[in-house]
Amino acid sequence: MKDNSGKQAHWNHIFRDKPEESLGWYEQDVSYTLDFFPEGILAEPQTIFIAGAGTSQLVDGLLAMGHRLILNDISDAALAKLRGRIGKQDAVIWLAADLSQALPDDLPPVDIWIDRAVLHFLIDEQAIKQYFASLNRLVKSAGFVLLAEFAETGAERCAGLPVHRYSLAAMNRRMLPVFSLLKHAHYDYITPAGGNRPYLYALYQRN
Ligand SMILES: C[S@@+](CC[C@H](N)C(=O)[O-])C[C@H]1O[C@@H](n2cnc3c(N)ncnc32)[C@H](O)[C@@H]1O
Repeated sequence: MKDNSGKQAHWNHIFRDKPEESLGWYEQDVSYTLDFFPEGILAEPQTIFIAGAGTSQLVDGLLAMGHRLILNDISDAALAKLRGRIGKQDAVIWLAADLSQALPDDLPPVDIWIDRAVLHFLIDEQAIKQYFASLNRLVKSAGFVLLAEFAETGAERCAGLPVHRYSLAAMNRRMLPVFSLLKHAHYDYITPAGGNRPYLYALYQRN
């Protein structure tokens, strides 16, 4: 297994030392992501894998809607902060896994996989392949996958790290034909400092 302690330390440092509201991906209002799902999908309780939860407000929103969550992040500091905010929750499985490596065997299959600004930090082809292998293993038949990553016109770096930017065609090459594309959009996220960060949002359903 590859040593991920450097990557983990990098993210831990960010989550321990910086105010959440100053982070270049912080969102108080997560409705764009929630509303990206077709009406009704989130109305029923679902098991949802959050690829790199960070301290996202999305978690609070999904819990309030009654979903069961697998909250993953390479940063145990981010997870500790999130746990401090949401408290002990029966509906949560906590996981501090590096998505460039295989996930534990005992995770339950999921109805929905949500990734906002995590996949684009995987640069090596081997790491990207492993990410999609995990996604393919965990997402149930007819399950949904929302990938929201830096668009081709987006920044080349984030959080001090290089990113792999995605066109729709590049994302489709990873997802089709096992999944079908349901919907996609270009979304201009504005950072707390006022910068424009173009994202590709792409929603897929497993065939
Ligand atoms: C830009 S932040 C986005 C956080 C959250 N998704 C949001 O929208 O607020 C990227 C997150 O991915 C996590 N991360 C980075 N590389 C990762 C990896 N290889 N495996 C799992 N999580 C990772 C970071 O610790 C961080 O929480």
